Amino acid sequence: MDQEKTKNTLSRRQVLGGTAAALGSVTAIPFASAAESNPANLPPSVPEWTPYLGAGVDVNPYGMPSEHESHVIRRNVEWLTASTESSINFTPLQDLDGIVTPNGLCFERHHGGVPEVVPADYRLMINGLVDRELIFTIDDLKRFPQVNRFHFLECAANGGMEWRGAQLNGCQYTFGMVHNVQYSGVRLSDICREVGVKPSAKWVLAEGGDSAGMNRSVPIEKILDDCMIAYSMNGEALRPEQGYPARLVVPGWEGNMWVKWIRRLEFGDAPYMAREETSKYTDLMENGKARMFTWVMDAKSVVTSPCPEKPMMAKGQNLLKGLAWSGRGKITRVDVSLDGGVNWKTAELHGPVLSKSLTRFTMPFEWNGEEMKVQSRAIDETGYVQPTIQALQKERGVNSIYHNNSIATWLVKSNGEVENVRLG
Ligand code: MTE
Ligand code: CO
Repeated sequence: MDQEKTKNTLSRRQVLGGTAAALGSVTAIPFASAAESNPANLPPSVPEWTPYLGAGVDVNPYGMPSEHESHVIRRNVEWLTASTESSINFTPLQDLDGIVTPNGLCFERHHGGVPEVVPADYRLMINGLVDRELIFTIDDLKRFPQVNRFHFLECAANGGMEWRGAQLNGCQYTFGMVHNVQYSGVRLSDICREVGVKPSAKWVLAEGGDSAGMNRSVPIEKILDDCMIAYSMNGEALRPEQGYPARLVVPGWEGNMWVKWIRRLEFGDAPYMAREETSKYTDLMENGKARMFTWVMDAKSVVTSPCPEKPMMAKGQNLLKGLAWSGRGKITRVDVSLDGGVNWKTAELHGPVLSKSLTRFTMPFEWNGEEMKVQSRAIDETGYVQPTIQALQKERGVNSIYHNNSIATWLVKSNGEVENVRLG
């Protein structure tokens, strides 16, 4: 990290002190690479990679990104990582475009490490208040009608370190516990029909096959509404980290409920009061009481460029980029402020704008080297408006680490550096 920072700072100084400041508009060459490039490769010369045959097709049986993109990786925070088996890493949102998170960059959260599930020995067991208690193989699941849907998964603890103040200086560390992929799988309502759910069944306990045996209670209405058992993400089999060979998908609801390596669904008439919904994943309020079953992820957004990892590289015309999402449906509008929330402009939403999915927004702007306080504010189809941290704290205090969907502020300094700050 430190090395990258020095590199960025250097090239930025060269930029702002030199040619770019005078240009005041976009040129065809990105300023950063212009500063580091080899003149022998630049027009009108023939670059060094042109006169020779390139690598053959069988060099990469499974393709990897360019080595020049090797900084685009999941990262963890050392002091949040007591042991890697029960830990978290973060999606590099600042380096992505569009709305799809590449499979290798989806953040991971495990309570007991990644189990090595053998697909031939994988089973999904259904028991409890059903007419037929059944056990499915992965091939059985794949014979059900298929659905293909984009959804975000956000950990309830995303931004959890920022409740009391700006603490982690990075878009990746403050917003990166979210990913968005296209899931292929089976509607749980179809599986329910197959097993014949009894009218007395009101709750489902979803249980994981990892060493943590992670389990959560899901109300039957949600199970029947839009839950899935997914076996693919972005067209290929789920990655081991994401629950291979099958996971529960609970669109719009907190990540903890999306049980990975799912092995059992038990239908019952009451919530199971599992550890993850009593001692954990409850939100401690100011009066000492805790909110329980706070499932929905409220509307949220983040500016992914500029941000602490993406400093301003040039004056003149620039493009602000960001992501917005809501667990209640579609994003209908995103406003952007460059002055800490005094004035707002509506950003452009890029399709597809899907329900309970990340939505991309951009906004062109001019930068002349003045200080900026960059914010974004998402609004969803229910009319819900992403709150300020002050408004959220007034409702919920500062004791919880979960469900912080407040507006963040990136302070852009006149030298182009960007810092995560708290206003007011
Ligand atoms: N499922 C099992 N079986 N074990 C786990 O540790 N972690 C949960 C959930 N499902 C977990 C699990 C949490 S807290 C989150 S935020 C999401 O998985 C993370 O999913 P991901 O690793 O695909 O990002
Ligand atoms: Co989580």
